[in-house]
Amino acid sequence: MEQRFWEQLSLALTLLLLNVGSAVNEDVPLNSYGVPGLPGMPGMPGKDGKDGLKGAKGEPGIPAPPAMQGPKGMKGEPGSPGLPGKKGPSGLPGPAGDPGVMGPPGEPGMPGSYKQKHQSAFSVTRQTKEHPLKNVPVIFNHVITNTNHDYNTTTGKFTCKLPGLYYFVFHTSQTANLCTILHKNQRRMASFCDHKTNTMQVSSGGLLLHLAAEDQVWLGVNDYNGMVGIANSDSIFSGFLLFPD
Ligand SMILES: *[C@@H]1O[C@H](CO)[C@@H](O)[C@H](O)[C@H]1NC(C)=O
Repeated sequence: MEQRFWEQLSLALTLLLLNVGSAVNEDVPLNSYGVPGLPGMPGMPGKDGKDGLKGAKGEPGIPAPPAMQGPKGMKGEPGSPGLPGKKGPSGLPGPAGDPGVMGPPGEPGMPGSYKQKHQSAFSVTRQTKEHPLKNVPVIFNHVITNTNHDYNTTTGKFTCKLPGLYYFVFHTSQTANLCTILHKNQRRMASFCDHKTNTMQVSSGGLLLHLAAEDQVWLGVNDYNGMVGIANSDSIFSGFLLFPD
């Protein structure tokens, strides 16, 4: 509609200019004027104009009346389960469990140090031509063998450290009558007497004794005390553990 208005206005102006042009030419005689032409044909429609500016925002619409809202829908189906949550912090340690059942017996161990620990053996000699005192331990003052120092060359006594069965034996040289008495603690266990009939003679004796720890074994003499220990005539006291308990 607006376009059409401008088209008609443009046509009217064109006609006016044509009239003015003819009016300016006053030299031309009046009778030379022609008959005005017929109005031209309407021009072609012009091109579309540019878009106008955006209009102002309108007022909010009126809320629809409640009557226009549809009825409340049915309850929906439950949604699918969510993803697992994050791992929580570790709890306190629980109480100790019950002891397990006893395991099977182990393999037999390596051979023990029986030789080191369960040894007891001695051989001691009395090296003097003096006869020993009666009723006290005869001192055998020279050690040939004395494992673990079970025989004491100061006291003349063997002291048991390992309970068990022991064998004691003596071989004495004598220059006079001699009774050799074997003692266990203060008790006389065996007595061997030999009356001298030769210049030099030897007597001997031995026995097995069961000993407890701290038991003491020693040799004594009585009034017959002709024991000596001189060159080629030894007096030897020996003992050893036969079976430990
Ligand atoms: C022998 O006995 C004495 C007196 O009891 C003691 O002083 C000494 O240490 C003992 N010797 C050994 C080797 O046990």
